[in-house]
Amino acid sequence: MASHCFCSAGSLFTTSSSSIHTKVEEKWLGSFPLKRRNLVHLRLSNGIKTRAALNAADSKSVEIPRKWYNLTADLPVKPPPPLNPRTFEPVKPEDLSPLFPDELIKQEATSDRYIDIPDEVIDIYKLWRPTPLIRAKRLEKLLDTPARIYYKYEGVSPAGSHKPNSAVPQAYYNAKAGVKNVVTETGAGQWGSSLAFACSLFGLGCEVWQVRASYDQKPYRRLMMQTWGAKVHPSPSTITEAGKKILQIDPSSPGSLGIAISEAVEIAVMNADTKYCLGSVLNHVLLHQTVIGEECLKQMEAIGETPDIIVGCTGGGSNFAGLSFPFIREKLNGKINPVIRAVEPAACPSLTKGVYAYDYGDTAGLTPLMKMHTLGHDFVPDPIHAGGLRYHGMAPLISHVYELGLMEAISIPQTECFQGAIQFARTEGLIPAPEPTHAIAATIREALKCRETGEAKVILTAMCGHGHFDLPAYEKYLQGNMVDLSFSEEKIKASLANIPQVVS
Ligand SMILES: Cc1ncc(COP(=O)(O)O)c(C=O)c1O
Repeated sequence: MASHCFCSAGSLFTTSSSSIHTKVEEKWLGSFPLKRRNLVHLRLSNGIKTRAALNAADSKSVEIPRKWYNLTADLPVKPPPPLNPRTFEPVKPEDLSPLFPDELIKQEATSDRYIDIPDEVIDIYKLWRPTPLIRAKRLEKLLDTPARIYYKYEGVSPAGSHKPNSAVPQAYYNAKAGVKNVVTETGAGQWGSSLAFACSLFGLGCEVWQVRASYDQKPYRRLMMQTWGAKVHPSPSTITEAGKKILQIDPSSPGSLGIAISEAVEIAVMNADTKYCLGSVLNHVLLHQTVIGEECLKQMEAIGETPDIIVGCTGGGSNFAGLSFPFIREKLNGKINPVIRAVEPAACPSLTKGVYAYDYGDTAGLTPLMKMHTLGHDFVPDPIHAGGLRYHGMAPLISHVYELGLMEAISIPQTECFQGAIQFARTEGLIPAPEPTHAIAATIREALKCRETGEAKVILTAMCGHGHFDLPAYEKYLQGNMVDLSFSEEKIKASLANIPQVVS
């Protein structure tokens, strides 16, 4: 194992002070010309007159977008940069090079509005893209709502979720840079399996630290990762210093995404031929996921629909950003005006109950400091079934967009989410992963409001993965054994006390 020069103090960066001053307020303005919308008028089978009916041909006939979209280019205020906790200065590309290949570092910091999707990535996207945009007519009927509900379904990818949209380009850029192995964290196993799949296509070694609670609850995703050739460890593990420290304090720790990130980052900085991949949170991950929203914009345009409200679940925020950011661009340009709503678990409510502050992206404090909504980097969320939403922070870019007032957020407890998922499965047929059950529950709340008010709103939601490997969670719900894990103010207070004091 070749050792890397970073990490001498067991940390990617060494913090020498807890007080940091930043100079970040830069104005960014931009506009983007829109094509005229092409409206068609049809009557739907449920009797509601709308501007269009959607069928499989409509949603499949759009082209896969050729560019990812960078919302930062169009924001009126630039988001605060990540900081090197040793110098308290914005991180430099060289700070990140032990972790990421140059191309991804460039994408992380780019101010370009659009990034071309490489042909090699498009060729792989073609395995499952374009993904369907489906009108949930049977769910509408069950709810007796005048609302029109559409869901963009990402569960058709090989791994069963939106995560390959970023796993494939991340593996591609690493392979192109001559990297031999990549390491990562995973919660429910959706990201780990997506990266394992992508690495198998590019001949890259792949090692995954899977959050202990999910490792135990979801053995089939571990087997998927192993089938695609990855090595999988439960996290916290005894392989890393970060894992050993956590286990010393709590030998039965259920783990968290923050802990698993620490373990993977530690391995990456210690091995010159190994880089780190992250499944959410960072700008380049959100960027890759915008293929969802760009495609969906075209699909909605093709059927002449305009969303009044867009809802998506948020863990680190990548599926939500992926769907909503292109719509936020249109909103900023005054073309549409949808409400954009993030939905998080009541047991891990970073946007709705966290503070907006600089904090570490991982539990051990190995990453740069990022300004985000955080519950504190050592907050370990209760082991809810939506393992992919158990992250202490929110993507800095989403946090910034939230601060700018361009979106809103709510939290929902897991039993309401599974109640909605059962209604969805029994009407639409698809069994959602536990994460998008949050988006479905919020969609149902909104559709029921429309029933009360009589408004025929267009609700667009992100159905970002199927739940075929999450059936133990459904079993628990169906047997009446699922509980809403209580949210502890005290626990959050304790972890917030440990975030670095950064003065901006
Ligand atoms: C199906 C699914 N949806 C959502 C998420 C949450 O991540 P993000 O907020 O980055 O989309 C995950 C994470 O693992 C996931 O597997």
